[in-house]
Amino acid sequence: MKLTCLVDNGVRPHTRFQGEHGLAFLIESEAGKILFDTGASGTVLLHNMDVARVTPSEIDGLALSHGHRDHTGGLPAFLERRPGLPLYAHPDITRERFSERKGERQAVGIPLSPQELGRLTDLHLSAEPQEIMPGVWTTGEIRERPEPEGRSSRHFVREGEDWLPDPYRDDMALVVETARGPLLVCGCCHAGLLNTLAHVQKVLKREPVAVIGGTHLIAADQAHLQRLTEVLQRLGPPWLYLNHCTGEAAYVSLALVLGERVAPFPAGAVLELESA
Ligand SMILES: [Fe+2]
Ligand SMILES: [Fe+2]
Repeated sequence: MKLTCLVDNGVRPHTRFQGEHGLAFLIESEAGKILFDTGASGTVLLHNMDVARVTPSEIDGLALSHGHRDHTGGLPAFLERRPGLPLYAHPDITRERFSERKGERQAVGIPLSPQELGRLTDLHLSAEPQEIMPGVWTTGEIRERPEPEGRSSRHFVREGEDWLPDPYRDDMALVVETARGPLLVCGCCHAGLLNTLAHVQKVLKREPVAVIGGTHLIAADQAHLQRLTEVLQRLGPPWLYLNHCTGEAAYVSLALVLGERVAPFPAGAVLELESA
């Protein structure tokens, strides 16, 4: 099993990978190749796929962590080159969503309509866990969220005339089985890392040995970070390969407590483990 970070805010030094505020992963096993998220733009996604020596036509399945543009912006250009691809996501993936900047609310949702998505892909929308290929599952919706979520006060959805905080119902992660144990691969983890881990333990009966991806701890306060490190320590703790919306303060807090178990995972980074 090989997991490559294709798109991230950061890039591995001395490589041709390009960076942008976005995220995409490539998951490869004997069973096939999965693209998880598509970065913020087709330009960076396709360039970085070329650097990683993988073509859109080789991809067997696509999963989306949630609808935000930094994870879905590469979709139109990618699907143009790989129409008909099975796409796994939560039904709320096509909900309009907005981000507030300088008093204005701009659309930051998926750049394709539900009709376009239906025409361009083989759609598998479900709030329940879905198997994408042997050993790779979506978590489904993370319904129970007693722990802090990865929220932004700038994110909104519209309901009739009302603006409401984005409930991030579509936010989900992937679980990838390896010989070392399951990996949890996150997009933005708006549902909250501890909520996502608890959901995986409860619903999928799996204890991830590593967490990879964005953890949206960028706005987490000291109490949140302390609670997080305490629970992670009790859990083992898992290895953390962090990127995207984790935030520097959170990264440093985690690294100070968990030491070598915390590592960055920029575009071009690869994790290779024996398949389960
Ligand atoms: Fe997001
Ligand atoms: Fe994001």
